[in-house]
Amino acid sequence: MNRISVHVDGTTYEDEVEPRLLLVHYLRDRLGLTATSSGCDTGNCGACTVDLDGASVKSCSVLAVQADGGEVTTVQGLARDGEWHPLQRSFHEHHALQCGYCTPGMIMAARDLLRHNPEPGPEEVRRALKGNLCRCTGYQNIVKAVLAAAAGQKAPAEPATRGDEACT
Ligand code: FES
Ligand code: FES
Repeated sequence: MNRISVHVDGTTYEDEVEPRLLLVHYLRDRLGLTATSSGCDTGNCGACTVDLDGASVKSCSVLAVQADGGEVTTVQGLARDGEWHPLQRSFHEHHALQCGYCTPGMIMAARDLLRHNPEPGPEEVRRALKGNLCRCTGYQNIVKAVLAAAAGQKAPAEPATRGDEACT
């Protein structure tokens, strides 16, 4: 067992973990932060995306011991004073989710994009989210939601569309 200390969503946790424990399982099973999804555990779907020390990572591709001493932000750490993060609000307003399984990872990947590129175009959004799979939405409304959040304004209300352009 290895002793680790990790700061997650504003709280420091000290734990003994097996060296093989994946960060996604540490977050979900040990810390109870189950909003971060675990989809494939092979680095393919992006559902487990979190921020580790300022970089977007797939938490199934990182060992918990690698996060020792680090700072992790999950989708659960984005809201402030009961207010959703602009991306959370925009996903809600633009019907950018259906089952919601991919949503935590999508939002975390989009957050990473907007930190590095605050004014992306649609193709840049698609490129940035290409490592995040969604089996429900067709991606159209996800792209709209990210663009609207980037614009910092509410886009005109539109009916949810089941688009056919994938960003993969
Ligand atoms: S669960 Fe991590 S990429 Fe799918
Ligand atoms: S909303 Fe269901 S997988 Fe994306």
